[in-house]
Amino acid sequence: MAKQNVYDNDTFFENFLSSRGNKVNFNDCIETPILFSMLPSLEGKTVLDIGCGMGQHAKQYSVMGAESVLGIDISAKMLEYAREHNSADNITYRQLAMEDIGEIGEQFDLVTSSLVFDYIEDFPGLMRKIHTLVKAGAEFVFSMSHPIVTAWDGAYDRYTRTETGERLYANLRNYCLEGPRKVDWVVNGYECYHRTVSSLINALIGAGFIIEECQEAHISDDMRKQYPALFGGTIHRPEFIFFRCRKPAQTDNG
Ligand SMILES: C[S@@+](CC[C@H](N)C(=O)[O-])C[C@H]1O[C@@H](n2cnc3c(N)ncnc32)[C@H](O)[C@@H]1O
Repeated sequence: MAKQNVYDNDTFFENFLSSRGNKVNFNDCIETPILFSMLPSLEGKTVLDIGCGMGQHAKQYSVMGAESVLGIDISAKMLEYAREHNSADNITYRQLAMEDIGEIGEQFDLVTSSLVFDYIEDFPGLMRKIHTLVKAGAEFVFSMSHPIVTAWDGAYDRYTRTETGERLYANLRNYCLEGPRKVDWVVNGYECYHRTVSSLINALIGAGFIIEECQEAHISDDMRKQYPALFGGTIHRPEFIFFRCRKPAQTDNG
């Protein structure tokens, strides 16, 4: 599987749009607050957002004082939305696959990415490319689905349930087997890559990054009680994993 562009599928895009339009969603309630808590000050910084989607984060980075923000994404539909709803003088949106980021040819004070690396076949290769785009001494902060979540392939119910159907806990399938996972989710044959936590860590270290912080999303009791349909039954499972990495001040690739 290479360069899947499921976000340009009409059904998938509409569904994504409406799920993000709903105030209570995993991205805004769980993922984004953790990611933003791991960011350094953006004042005067040049920022690259890989897989910027509809541009909400890029817009925030601009508001938070970034000097410039480059948002890249493979999806024309997502970028169209970003340009219409989340533009600013210092934001540039560009259609580019993350596999091709070597073309960018400049370095940034901060590279970020939010829930995009699930779609990359060659994770270690991508980490090496990103390393060349980060200025020496600067940071790279990202989130992706937690490997415990991607260890599933749709062959059975994702949850073990009570007799009345409430979720008790999530089932795991073949955690140690890495590779593409295909599930029928919104569209038939939705694909992402599953890899283990140690593979993520080793790819970051192998690319030359220092890992300064790692977080696993935890859904609070309050949230689970308030929105049981969305968050109930997931207390034992981290939905997302986050890393804050630094490129050492002295490196071979600048
Ligand atoms: C879950 S959305 C996240 C969007 C945004 N980062 C956010 O947090 O709102 C995943 C995004 O990754 C983009 N994407 C998927 N595969 C990509 C690829 N190969 N290169 C660049 N972007 C990609 C999709 O088009 C989509 O906008």
